[in-house]
Amino acid sequence: MDKQLRIAILISGRGSNMQKLVAAAADLPVQIVLVAADRQADVPSAGGINWARNAGLNCKTLLPSDYGGRCPGQERALAEAIEGAEADFIFLAGYMAILSAEFVGRFSNKIINIHPSLLPKYKGLHTHQRALQDDAREHGATVHLVTPALDDGPIILQGVVDVHTDDDADTLASRTLALEHRLYPLVLSALAHAELDIQGGKPIWKQTALDKLHKALPEIRPLIDLG
Ligand code: GRF
Repeated sequence: MDKQLRIAILISGRGSNMQKLVAAAADLPVQIVLVAADRQADVPSAGGINWARNAGLNCKTLLPSDYGGRCPGQERALAEAIEGAEADFIFLAGYMAILSAEFVGRFSNKIINIHPSLLPKYKGLHTHQRALQDDAREHGATVHLVTPALDDGPIILQGVVDVHTDDDADTLASRTLALEHRLYPLVLSALAHAELDIQGGKPIWKQTALDKLHKALPEIRPLIDLG
């Protein structure tokens, strides 16, 4: 049997990507050892942490305001929680904070993010709106390794969605989110089955895994660097 991969998930909001990771983990050699949020659970847009608590997961809410701001107190507490849970990887799932270089360095090559654009296009916020303003024909989502620069780390996997002529930011966001919900579990599964490895700051895929991915998700973009 594969070794259990220990995963921490960081969220700020509704946590739909987190829910997909949790669902996928049930059929994988993966243990979700921590879900941490940086927003109050009673904020309506931050329902993800309530969902995780109801699902019986080990949850922590670490509000920057309780630590005199985000850096360094809140991040230190977050890092300690992650280390205490002995997580092998940290999946950011709508975690809206920009992590410090110190935090990223502490978990070097272990932090993974999903971003709703075809990086390097549209780093940061309002990605769907910006794609529409540019009359982009295609949009998508990217799973990447986290480095200190925002939305800039090596790409692990991308998927593409078409932009429709009658799209607004909401319709494009929901089509992109549906793609994110497929991409992130695929990356988790590949890591758990050692079909994907992170070596020297680079994602290394097994060719067999890539073949499987293309079958499962034909719209995947072949931007993966095989090293
Ligand atoms: C997703 O679009 C993710 O790519 C971005 O923030 C959004 C989070 O949505 N980083 P959810 O909380 O996972 O539903």
